[in-house]
Amino acid sequence: MTVTRVFVVDPNARETELLTAPAIREAAAILRRGGLVAFPTETVYGLGAVATDARAVANLFAAKGRPADNPLIVHLAAAEDVVRVARDIPPEAWRLWARYAPGPLTLVLPSRGTVAPAALAGLPTVAVRIPAHPVARALIRAAGAPIVAPSANRSGRPSPTTAAHVLEDLAGRIDAVVDGGPADIGLESTVLDVTRRPAIVLRPGAVTVEMLEAVLGDGAVVDPAAPLRDGEAPRSPGMKYRHYAPDVPLALLDLEDGAEAAVEALRAVLAVSGPPPAVIATEEDAARLRALLAAAGVPSDRLLWVIVGRRSEPQTVAAALYGAFRSLRPEAASRAFFVRLPETGLFRAVMNRVRKAAGDRRFPGKDAAPAAPE
Ligand code: TXA
Ligand code: MG
Repeated sequence: MTVTRVFVVDPNARETELLTAPAIREAAAILRRGGLVAFPTETVYGLGAVATDARAVANLFAAKGRPADNPLIVHLAAAEDVVRVARDIPPEAWRLWARYAPGPLTLVLPSRGTVAPAALAGLPTVAVRIPAHPVARALIRAAGAPIVAPSANRSGRPSPTTAAHVLEDLAGRIDAVVDGGPADIGLESTVLDVTRRPAIVLRPGAVTVEMLEAVLGDGAVVDPAAPLRDGEAPRSPGMKYRHYAPDVPLALLDLEDGAEAAVEALRAVLAVSGPPPAVIATEEDAARLRALLAAAGVPSDRLLWVIVGRRSEPQTVAAALYGAFRSLRPEAASRAFFVRLPETGLFRAVMNRVRKAAGDRRFPGKDAAPAAPE
């Protein structure tokens, strides 16, 4: 058991100031010695290790309890540094970085073979990202090395958006966490495989399909939600694991289609004693569901309402989602329902995470019976 140190830095400090801050210098020294340091990025907190250090990478997989066949993202401070870890970089990649780097976009490229093979799960490709967060950038520069950084959660848990979330999962298992305040975006980066043509979105994120197409052109990007053609292999091997899940069973609740059935099903669930069910919804959707329940004479005061931002401001929903998932404890809620959002823009990424967390359970539906937590 390690004592996890906490370094607090000013979230408003600039990268240049942070480079010389004692907290960043110490955190970078721990990384260079082969240690594990969690740090904020603009998406979620990452758990860093030096990408070329095989022992540090092995410790990182162990600390997270991460399956060995799920590769890590290499984080760099500048697009020019990508040539240190990747080769045969297609022109599309440079065009995307010109527009979206630094930022929440990860590109899958042919590997140069300089990163520890275990970090790439033995694949011939490497995923690279140039984060925008000043703390992440200063730490990478101070460490003077490419840094692998998966989300800093125990495998299977929601990604951490605060240093407190990191400690919840990893205190005693990692050397340090740099606390730079809450992550802005709240969802992991977009992962785009540009080794294939058309490029394939392996994970939707804040750089949306629309934004990618604005650079690469119509039809140059395949949306992961698009149905597979006959005989086509699943597009994203890393996404086969159960992810992001709260500690209580989650199901999708549709208010656009079949609101009446949803209200009646909630009436039945509310009649069961024990911890109440929770509803996770935007402010607008919560108001709408309250009105529907009231109109149907269903008492809703027993419901545990978990509000995730405003539907009119999608970024507030993304930022609140994982905190909401983490807040759901079995003592407080028997199960949870997420009020479905339209799958456009940033909500595509939100709904991708919610669907994975829910294991595609819908309510009401054939899977509506409470599922055993895994
Ligand atoms: O926003 C983010 O990307 C955060 C922050 C910390 O930067 N990191 C993150 O890492 O979400 P992680 O390890 O939790 O997710 C990495 C994803 C996984 O789905 C993994 O399968 C995929 O990227 N991935 C990594 N390398 C890959 C590769 N060579 N080919 C295909 N997918 C890859
Ligand atoms: Mg992760």
